[in-house]
Amino acid sequence: MVTPLLTTTLDATRSAVAAARARGQRVGFVPTMGALHAGHLSLIRRARAECGFVVVSIFVNPTQFGPHEDLARYPRPFEKDLAACTAEAVDLIFNPTAEVVYPPFFKTFVEVTGLQNVLCGATRPGHFRGVATVVLKLFNIVQPDVAYFGQKDAQQARILIQMVRDLHLSVEMVLCPIVREADGLALSSRNVYLSTEQRQQAPVLFQCLRMIQERIAAGDRLTEPLVQLARARIWETPGARLDYAAIVDFERLEPIDVLSGKVLIALAVFFGATRLIDNILVDVSPA
Ligand code: PAF
Repeated sequence: MVTPLLTTTLDATRSAVAAARARGQRVGFVPTMGALHAGHLSLIRRARAECGFVVVSIFVNPTQFGPHEDLARYPRPFEKDLAACTAEAVDLIFNPTAEVVYPPFFKTFVEVTGLQNVLCGATRPGHFRGVATVVLKLFNIVQPDVAYFGQKDAQQARILIQMVRDLHLSVEMVLCPIVREADGLALSSRNVYLSTEQRQQAPVLFQCLRMIQERIAAGDRLTEPLVQLARARIWETPGARLDYAAIVDFERLEPIDVLSGKVLIALAVFFGATRLIDNILVDVSPA
């Protein structure tokens, strides 16, 4: 196994990518904040299968954390991440410092208006501004042909697809399925924060989504009773506190009364200080 090339600067990253492109290789990019789990590995494997040169960034982006969020304690197991990238035959890891990404007197941010202040954005002001800003920067540094994102962060993916469209970026965006534990819990770097009891209750998010999916398959088309189902199920789960349960049109991320077209069913639930999210995307034909 060959250890990936490790870069920390813009110039070194750009010249390694330029060399790959000069060799005729398609450049695939998986942006991450590290603490890699099987969900990330599924993105890396897809990139590996589709691209000649695979870049993974590992950067815990400070601008997407609120003042009371977990920036300081966010897991940073770099050696383990390096081993995982080596095992997946990643070509290059870009691992910059915050000063490289946000030099002194940094003043420019990207906002995808309309999509950024709903769902997760309603309780995490500034979060998606930070995400869009860093991803645009990473795209400008890495200059990938194709970038891979997980559906687990569906709103993030939707916002970034809009950014690419609105700013005429020539990056192909690939959305990859959620990877789950055997009991349905969506993989997340934050799952490590859960206590044993919280971990036992956490699959309730997926159970709610499955319940709603079954009702849709049975012909239900009104959203409010479906949202109420999820609310009631979370309410009765020990240790769980609902942040939101929502059924929205995936294009606009706006609530809908009647299901039709591409619909995002999304949940955010707190277990103590740990906030878990999960979702399903469904294509609903008229009943
Ligand atoms: O999904 C993540 O891990 C982050 O939001 C991303 C896309 C790497 C930006 O920091």
